[in-house]
Amino acid sequence: MTAEPYRPRRSVLYVPASNDKALAKIAQLSCDAVIIDLEDAVAPADKVAAREKLPAIFANRPGANHLGHRCEMVVRVNALASEWGADDLLAAAKFEPDGILLSKVATPRDILEVGDVLDDNSAPDSVKLWAMIETPRALLNIGAIAELGRDPASRLDCFVAGTNDLAKDTGVLATPDRRYLVPWLLQMVLAARAGGLDMLDGVANDFRDLDAFARECADATAMGFDGKTLIHPAQIDAANRAFAPSTAALTEARLIKDAFSRAENAGKGVIALNGRMVERLHLAQAEKLLAKAAAIGA
Ligand code: COA
Ligand code: MG
Repeated sequence: MTAEPYRPRRSVLYVPASNDKALAKIAQLSCDAVIIDLEDAVAPADKVAAREKLPAIFANRPGANHLGHRCEMVVRVNALASEWGADDLLAAAKFEPDGILLSKVATPRDILEVGDVLDDNSAPDSVKLWAMIETPRALLNIGAIAELGRDPASRLDCFVAGTNDLAKDTGVLATPDRRYLVPWLLQMVLAARAGGLDMLDGVANDFRDLDAFARECADATAMGFDGKTLIHPAQIDAANRAFAPSTAALTEARLIKDAFSRAENAGKGVIALNGRMVERLHLAQAEKLLAKAAAIGA
């Protein structure tokens, strides 16, 4: 597990591979990543035709923005056990996407098997694996799955909460404040941190209610998520704002950095700043936040 430069994943939009109008929009979107969906957003009768669109989709891969970031292109494939999964995986790997998002993951073996297929097909190391956490088994096995993130050879890079499937498979009631889902969401964040993975929140289905969406994003940032998966372009700006460092947090980070750079504090592990204890761990946190702000131009 290496400390890699911050890679923004504040806003990650699902785009059904079967929806030409939506696909045509990708180049103009200001989201940090798109997930080309071959799974739940595509009806069984359209699965093969959707997969056949991948060449055209990747022929129009977005270029870098003014900050040097390229919108990441991830493909969500059907479960390997399904009739489409294996062909989806081979088709997606050919285009060297930034990530392949595995649906209905249950055990570490699901990740390892796909990693072997990618290795056998000479997919470059830049093709990472993302995993949906959306089944009861994935939640029960999440520590072992996350542990793979500590070995770069596994390619595992990111977890994505699949809250709709989790609600369906568990019977938990999905309330607007997500009170019954929160324990599981926090468990995902914890596991992702243990494995050095990014952790993306699930989608908000009610894409017309942007006030509710902003509240959900605020909760997700408070829980420690890196970003949110989205279903509609109208959700992108709010997610980009919510997962960027706040002005107050940046001011505080600069204060901490300045304080530790003063000669009188050079050798100190802990200092007092405006009546509060500040340790070197807070300096590290502040530097990370400032790097993140620089990366997104905040
Ligand atoms: N990505 C890119 N463009 C999208 C989009 C998406 N996810 N969702 C909508 N758009 C586009 C539409 O094509 C439309 O384009 P147009 O102006 O050229 O006609 C525009 O944004 C406005 O869309 P709107 O009319 O408000 O919504 P809609 O009724 O067309 O679509 C959904 C609503 C929910 C069906 C659609 O947003 C969608 O399919 N989202 C993704 C669902 C998904 O992937 N689910 C699986 C993961 S949870
Ligand atoms: Mg799902």
